[in-house]
Amino acid sequence: MKTALEWQIACGADEAILDAPIDRRQIPETPKAAPNKPKSTGPVPMAEVDTVGIARAAAEAATDLNTLKAAMEAYPHCDLKRGARQLVFADGQPNARVMIIGEAPGRDEDMAGKPFVGRAGRLLDLMFSHIGLSRENPDRDQALYITNVLPWRPPQNRDPKPDEMAMMLPFLKRHVELINPDLIVAMGNHACQALLGKRGITRLRGNWSEALGKPTLPMFHPAYLLRTSEAKRDAWADLLDLKARLRG
Ligand code: URA
Repeated sequence: MKTALEWQIACGADEAILDAPIDRRQIPETPKAAPNKPKSTGPVPMAEVDTVGIARAAAEAATDLNTLKAAMEAYPHCDLKRGARQLVFADGQPNARVMIIGEAPGRDEDMAGKPFVGRAGRLLDLMFSHIGLSRENPDRDQALYITNVLPWRPPQNRDPKPDEMAMMLPFLKRHVELINPDLIVAMGNHACQALLGKRGITRLRGNWSEALGKPTLPMFHPAYLLRTSEAKRDAWADLLDLKARLRG
């Protein structure tokens, strides 16, 4: 048992997801073949599932945040759902003028069910508090609303895959419509990829653009700022720009 555990740790498993262990060495009983079933003559063609179309229909049918969250919970086509503890929907004030869109939950967010609650999240809160914005403040001029491109934690915090982002984008689009913020902040490369179809945050940051019908400011991700303190100067300039835009 100890060797099996050590092997799993060596493979990169860093936590147990379920409360009770599953003995994967147990071979399930093979179901008996149905009588008179005609023999297959070759590989059965897999029907193509229009994962983006299904997501779009489900998202567009959502009339408020609760039905949107329920629609995302019921959406079965994103494999990330299977490895995550729970869906991480959003945090903050739905009446906020500023909506922050990050990449995906990490380990802390997966456990808490809220976006940006780990180290990067604490830095994010600190950064925005310096321009008078916070996720706790219900006054819309000082409020923040926070979500992510992906609502489930990717295993080992790996990068989101293009198909995962594509199938979750209709939900994000509806999310933005329902919140209807004045401004969006796209946090980091993956948010820029999903929202603007562009990468290269060093070039993009600080340059206002439009995404999902809203003025959008790409910024360095706080996780990057934790590793790269010389980039904090640029992040501060972007925060001041955001504040000026809100005033103007
Ligand atoms: N990084 C993100 O992009 N989102 C989170 O919720 C946490 C870390």
